[in-house]
Amino acid sequence: MDLKALFSTKLSEVLKGSLTTKEIYSLIETPKNDEHGDLAFPCFQLAKIQKISPIEIAKQLASQINDTVFSKIDAVGPYVNIFFSKKELGKAIINPILHQEQNYGSSEIGKEKTVVLDLSSPNIAKPFSMGHLRSTVIGNAIANLAKKCGYRTVKINHIGDWGTQFGKLIVAYHRWGNEEAVAANPIGELFHLYVRFHQEAEKNPYLEDEGRAAFKKLENGDSEYLKLWESFRNESLRAFKSIYDLLSIEFDSFQGEAFYNDKMDEIVQMLKEQSLLELSDGAEVVRLDEQQIPPCLIKKSDGATLYATRDLAAALFRQREYKFDEALYIVGQEQTIHFQQVKGVLKKLGYVWAEQMEHIPFGLILQHGKKMSTRKGRVILLEDVLNEAIKLAKKNIVEKNPGIHNPDEVANAVGVGAVIFHDLKNDRMNNIEFSLRDMLTFEGETGPYVQYTNARAHSILRKYKGTDVCFEGLDDDESWDVLKLLNEFPRIIERSYKQYAPSILAKYLIHVSQAFNKYYGKIRILAEDEHLQSRVSIVKAVTIVLTEGLQLLGMKAPKEM
Ligand code: ARG
Repeated sequence: MDLKALFSTKLSEVLKGSLTTKEIYSLIETPKNDEHGDLAFPCFQLAKIQKISPIEIAKQLASQINDTVFSKIDAVGPYVNIFFSKKELGKAIINPILHQEQNYGSSEIGKEKTVVLDLSSPNIAKPFSMGHLRSTVIGNAIANLAKKCGYRTVKINHIGDWGTQFGKLIVAYHRWGNEEAVAANPIGELFHLYVRFHQEAEKNPYLEDEGRAAFKKLENGDSEYLKLWESFRNESLRAFKSIYDLLSIEFDSFQGEAFYNDKMDEIVQMLKEQSLLELSDGAEVVRLDEQQIPPCLIKKSDGATLYATRDLAAALFRQREYKFDEALYIVGQEQTIHFQQVKGVLKKLGYVWAEQMEHIPFGLILQHGKKMSTRKGRVILLEDVLNEAIKLAKKNIVEKNPGIHNPDEVANAVGVGAVIFHDLKNDRMNNIEFSLRDMLTFEGETGPYVQYTNARAHSILRKYKGTDVCFEGLDDDESWDVLKLLNEFPRIIERSYKQYAPSILAKYLIHVSQAFNKYYGKIRILAEDEHLQSRVSIVKAVTIVLTEGLQLLGMKAPKEM
């Protein structure tokens, strides 16, 4: 129930058209201090229209509004402050949550609409980077939110499996590599070969030419090279798969860059026909001066295609295949110009749907204030990072709850969840400092804190001896604070999706946890009195919202911790 909407309707009844309900809605504020009221209406705008002092208007309004949904209406200076009847509204808030359970907060905003999300998209033969982790986690949460809002979602992992680097890799493999070493440690070994190639190329520049030639041969379909490339791809995907398993993330498609090999000619042809291609230093480009963007490189001087060419073909393919209403690219901010160019070229080709493509950028992950880098040859494997998080989580959990019966399962949920939450609670454009220790504490604004709050609520439910719960209404301030927050869940989801900002949901879950812990600290929930059922209903509603909220972020919500 939208409490602001309720207040604006009641106000518009007495205002009789001076302002529309929508205008009233947008003027309503939430007082900083709860003691001043649940909502407040400032009268300045009305004062201008009616040419009466806002203080006078506030007084009049306060005396005119008269409805059982309000327990108190105060005119305070130029504001009308209202307090809702906790008992009456409490029922209207809690009962739908208990009834709808995990569907609470779902909507039909995206009914019959399709969102295609391009996320994760690591490069094969290279370690899975922190940047790819951010893309994976942010993209997955946005996809979950989209689904919750009723959209059909298509999650595409646009694997980086094509480009000059594979020519280099083939050269390196032929010179210094072998099958067994690659099979034993695919990413490590392939990356090692790649790094070695660059080291040797500094001494022997001829290697670069050899690499380019090898890629050309690969693009021309040489069967031996293709076989080698395919085995690199398969081995890499196998390694990535174990990361996705740890994160419990699935994709609808793994069609990466190579998939568009036979689909780029069409784009190049269209650009030619519309005379959009220009020669620049031997390369073919599309000028985007009129959009104030640097030219988009379509073909190199040796005829090889580029990253952008493949993205153009991919966009066209996706529009035909999925008929998307939105196409989101969850990719680091350093690729902003690239996506402007891709969109710019498609617009020049006359594709109006290019307007529905949106780059969702994000900041860096830092360690001690510096970009976390896979230093030359020294590979930090993300899988190791996640496993370290799980190990630390297990230590914390067993200390807190030595008798826990499934410590490994819970440690997995908490360790991985901590990494995910730490990323998502930050505005996505911010750079993030990576510290496992900070992520894993049970206090403060962390994933484990939210998970632990949920588990604590579940433990109360386990102790409750009754069978059914029914909310009869309560009028204490602590429970009302919790109820008001639970009531916001549907609007939080909508906002998180519309702004592509999982951080809105993550921060909300922290607020719910804080409010619930305060409630739990002050009130004896299981006291045997006439309000027992109402209090237990709140606890149950808290578990519903926290569990669903965590799952939308891509985390698990253990019932015991
Ligand atoms: N593989 C690329 C990289 O690691 C990201 C690909 C993003 N998606 C896209 N359609 N360009 O930088």
